[in-house]
Amino acid sequence: MTADAPTVLVTGATDGLGKALAAELAGTGATVLLHGRDQERGERTLAELRAQTGSETLGWYRADLSSLAEVESLAAQVAAEHERLDVLVNNAGIGTNLPGDGQRMQSADGHELRFAVNYLAPFLLARLLQPLLVSSAPARIVNVSSAGQAPIDFGDVMLERGYNGVQAYCQSKLALVMLTFDLAEELGETGVTANCLHPGTYMPTKMVFAAGMTPHDSLETGVRATARLVTAPELADVSGRYFNRLAEARAHPQAYDAEARRRLQELSEHLTGLAATLPDL
Ligand SMILES: NC(=O)c1ccc[n+]([C@@H]2O[C@H](COP(=O)([O-])OP(=O)(O)OC[C@H]3O[C@@H](n4cnc5c(N)ncnc54)[C@H](OP(=O)(O)O)[C@@H]3O)[C@@H](O)[C@H]2O)c1
Repeated sequence: MTADAPTVLVTGATDGLGKALAAELAGTGATVLLHGRDQERGERTLAELRAQTGSETLGWYRADLSSLAEVESLAAQVAAEHERLDVLVNNAGIGTNLPGDGQRMQSADGHELRFAVNYLAPFLLARLLQPLLVSSAPARIVNVSSAGQAPIDFGDVMLERGYNGVQAYCQSKLALVMLTFDLAEELGETGVTANCLHPGTYMPTKMVFAAGMTPHDSLETGVRATARLVTAPELADVSGRYFNRLAEARAHPQAYDAEARRRLQELSEHLTGLAATLPDL
């Protein structure tokens, strides 16, 4: 990322890590496009961050990521209103038990909810914003995953048999790592990098409190680790990596299984409708 005042889209910027990251980036002069699902929370966050950082270049976009149609309109609006996008941070996510309290839920499109919000939405958003990112290169995609990763059972991706929220969350987070590795390969020499991370363990946010966990890492730990992937000059050419906070780390073995990644990509193209727009090979 070389632009003096980069434009950064942060999903899930109305709370927790995304909001704190948006404040940090806005404070450094970046044009931060805040995303969230609730108009009132968005307007409140916008006012709060303007007062806190003095930034006059914040933007706000509302889209519920549990709807693929809303993901599409988010991408279309950002592309229509901005000539460049230097960084896409896929941060929005839902935890193990909020919402649903442990019961399986479905997205607007009939997909298992955690898979849809935490993985399919970033999958589609990254693909739809790819042309803008490529034309803005050098640019970056940063995916906020987790150390909580579980392999995808391709016989039951939608967890219709024996649902549990931890499995749902962890498979969605591994899928996001797999997406990151695929994007890095595909983007190759375009000047757009793709990396992902575990931002911190049990930071004090609503998903952690809802799961009844005692906070461990500070929010600042996650902000520092995520902001580093967004801005650090030494990472300009680093792509296709998974970081545990500040250190490069190994993800779950399935992330390095090329056949599993191919199956996930094919499935995701079909589920998001992208397959219909791709040329037959
Ligand atoms: N907290 C941790 O210790 C921890 C550890 C590892 C990874 N992470 C990851 O860090 C990221 C941020 O989590 P957090 O801890 O900051 O959680 P959080 O405080 O619950 O914030 C989540 C954000 O995502 C938004 N969001 C949720 N569902 C959405 C939907 N359907 N459409 C659009 N936006 C939606 C929320 O919007 P609302 O404000 O409207 O709720 C909020 O802005 C997540 O990807 C999480 O998995 C967190």
